[in-house]
Amino acid sequence: MAVTARDRIDGVLAGKGVIVCAGSGGVGKTTTAAAIAAALAAGGQRVIVLTIDPARRLADSLGLPKLGNEECRVDPERLAEAGLGGDGELWAMTLDAKRTFDELIERTAPDAETREAVLANPIYRQLSNAVAGSQEYMAMEKLYELHGSGRYDALVLDTPPARNALDFLDAPGRLSRFIDSRSLQVFRASGRAGLGLFGRGIGVVMSVLERATGVDLLRDLADFFNAFGGMAEGFRDRAKRVEALLRDDATTFLLVTSPRAAAIADAGYFHGKLAGSGMPFGALIVNRVREPVAAQADDPELAAELTRSLGEPLARKVRRDLEDRNGLAERDARNIEAMRADLTDGRLLTVPELSGDVHDLDGLAAVGAQLFAR
Ligand SMILES: Nc1ncnc2c1ncn2[C@@H]1O[C@H](COP(=O)(O)OP(=O)(O)OP(=O)(O)O)[C@@H](O)[C@H]1O
Ligand SMILES: [Mg+2]
Repeated sequence: MAVTARDRIDGVLAGKGVIVCAGSGGVGKTTTAAAIAAALAAGGQRVIVLTIDPARRLADSLGLPKLGNEECRVDPERLAEAGLGGDGELWAMTLDAKRTFDELIERTAPDAETREAVLANPIYRQLSNAVAGSQEYMAMEKLYELHGSGRYDALVLDTPPARNALDFLDAPGRLSRFIDSRSLQVFRASGRAGLGLFGRGIGVVMSVLERATGVDLLRDLADFFNAFGGMAEGFRDRAKRVEALLRDDATTFLLVTSPRAAAIADAGYFHGKLAGSGMPFGALIVNRVREPVAAQADDPELAAELTRSLGEPLARKVRRDLEDRNGLAERDARNIEAMRADLTDGRLLTVPELSGDVHDLDGLAAVGAQLFAR
């Protein structure tokens, strides 16, 4: 790949209050989100990064406690030591889906009795832990809440590895659909008797389960749906507002990918989906790009020198390693060129593979330095 003036992310992020980092598993979403937040804070903004399940060492270096859902300010002195000092503020928080769900119930429930009924309900506990997409939905919910607080100039949102790339975009809608679903209506309308509509089979299974577990599943279900159903309006309303925030001009989506074929395919699919759902796409960030080593393995002068100083067997190994590395770098470069050709909007930025994991503020500063013109 020809070395050209690199694109920078500054222009993409100017005036953006919500920055969402999305992409498939393990590509560097959490790292990128934290690095961008740190760089924006160093540039003078009050920024919070909402992380999801960060590696323990990264969480430690951000000063995040084990349990989530707490806004924590990153120590300005430590930031300054890593060259990230500035007039801004960097805050971080780990999203804990279950706890956000509980807080949401506490806010939405019309009265204390309903709130307690829902929170204590075994079905609710199962649901809030396990319902598909609850983590995605809750990330959106928290984002909305913090945005509304007005405490931050910019919110940078990390997202869970997208099993289905669109899980989290669709999360508010899915919750609304669940609330509106016929099964929920049936439960609300008729409680225990409603199960009859599902046929005798379920009723039999339920009663066997009840006998086996001692838990009155039917009553729990009916109680749950009755309490939950009363809050449907509030949920639906919030889901709409979250969606509006995501579509806002002051929001931008950054798609993170590795330079490998499978991740690129995911990113392409996701890019199409973003456009289809009217979400603003800002840039494609190709992370962990392997760069060529200046030396060529077949350079006879280099070969001679390696043999002289290392002896032939070791020299041969070094040459082979060099060849491998340059081969991978060439493949990455070809993949990137193909992505660039396919990309009709937004920018493509690259971040090289750094030596060692990015688990501390120095590492975040190094990633940030690749993305921003500073
Ligand atoms: N440019 C880079 N150079 C070297 N290591 C990197 C780079 N970017 C990320 N890493 C490392 O790659 C690993 C995965 O990064 P990260 O946790 O940010 O990915 P993720 O997309 O958030 O993963 P998940 O989908 O599991 O949440 C981490 O160990 C991180 O330190
Ligand atoms: Mg992550």
